[in-house]
Amino acid sequence: MATRKLLLLPGDGIGPETMTEVEKLIAAMNREHATGFETETALVGGAAWEAHKVSLRDADMALAHAADAILFGAVGGPRWDGIPYEHRPEAGLLRLRKELQLFANLRPAICYPALADASSLKRELVDGLDILIVRELTGGVYFGEPKEIRDLGNGQKRAIDTQVYDTYEIERIARAGFDFARTRRNKVTSMEKRNVMKSGLYWNEVVTRIHREEYPDVQLEHMLADAGGMQLVRRPKQFDVILTDNLFGDLLSDIAAMLTGSLGMLPSASLGAPDATTGMRRAMYEPVHGSAPDIAGKGVANPIAMFASFGMCLRYSFNMIEEADRLERAIARVLASGLRTPDLAPEGAATVTTAAMGDAVVAAYLAD
Ligand code: IPM
Ligand code: MG
Repeated sequence: MATRKLLLLPGDGIGPETMTEVEKLIAAMNREHATGFETETALVGGAAWEAHKVSLRDADMALAHAADAILFGAVGGPRWDGIPYEHRPEAGLLRLRKELQLFANLRPAICYPALADASSLKRELVDGLDILIVRELTGGVYFGEPKEIRDLGNGQKRAIDTQVYDTYEIERIARAGFDFARTRRNKVTSMEKRNVMKSGLYWNEVVTRIHREEYPDVQLEHMLADAGGMQLVRRPKQFDVILTDNLFGDLLSDIAAMLTGSLGMLPSASLGAPDATTGMRRAMYEPVHGSAPDIAGKGVANPIAMFASFGMCLRYSFNMIEEADRLERAIARVLASGLRTPDLAPEGAATVTTAAMGDAVVAAYLAD
């Protein structure tokens, strides 16, 4: 039996409770279908700070290097607002992305027909929506140096973040965007701010060159990122793949998530380059929603983004396409049957708990 090593990092807020539901599915798959998943669990974020006074221990970083794939819940919350910046919960997540070189962040925004009415946009604008945001994840203003608050000595301070992209960083994320477009509707919209930023100008230039030299068969368009945000809420179905940098991708993916009915629906995959010998990519899978401290621990969180993130893990890390398809069908069926966590339910409608939603997805998976 093949062994598949998964590192689970539930983290903070609703991370642990949504991860628990996915663990039920993993156990059921091992039991019923001998899938051979081996899981190990470690602390990250505020939870790691409480226990070890760091956001991610070196020993747990080593586990991340050794795992075939990582499932990540969420990090952060107001409780840790006051701790040293370098130990804030988000630092653990950023360290994982950077050290594992997970430069390609895939954020698919799919609107299930059953949820079209839960969207803040009109049904006809979002029904059947299927966008893939390809966000650069290890560069740009998130990691650029200098990054500091400098004392100018005259009673003033200067806050500095640095937006920086090297050629190879833009080339590899552009290739990822074009490669994924070829498996979809073959269109890429690249978003930057070339009207204001040198990094935007250069991003545009490199993407244009990679397109001309390597992907002339793919349709490419460029959009300023602010206009892109506007178009996302005006006519979202015009997009297939949106290719963008770390910061714009963060913003645009939250917008795209909301189009689908709830932030609780959007999964993501963060991928590195394929290993030269094994062909396997380093990878981490994570819901886009974050820790949602306001609803944490109440058993009301929507576990679907966490399930869908595991679905991406089956597809991209283990090439278990049949199982990934089955899981997506299970989610669609459960939604079609009318089950709703509070984030998805219209005012006054009946809702179910995190655990009930999780049980339903596992049951639908096993029944398929
Ligand atoms: C995301 C999150 C993270 C980010 C935070 C938690 C650091 O918002 O994955 O979108 O900004 O990348
Ligand atoms: Mg974000």
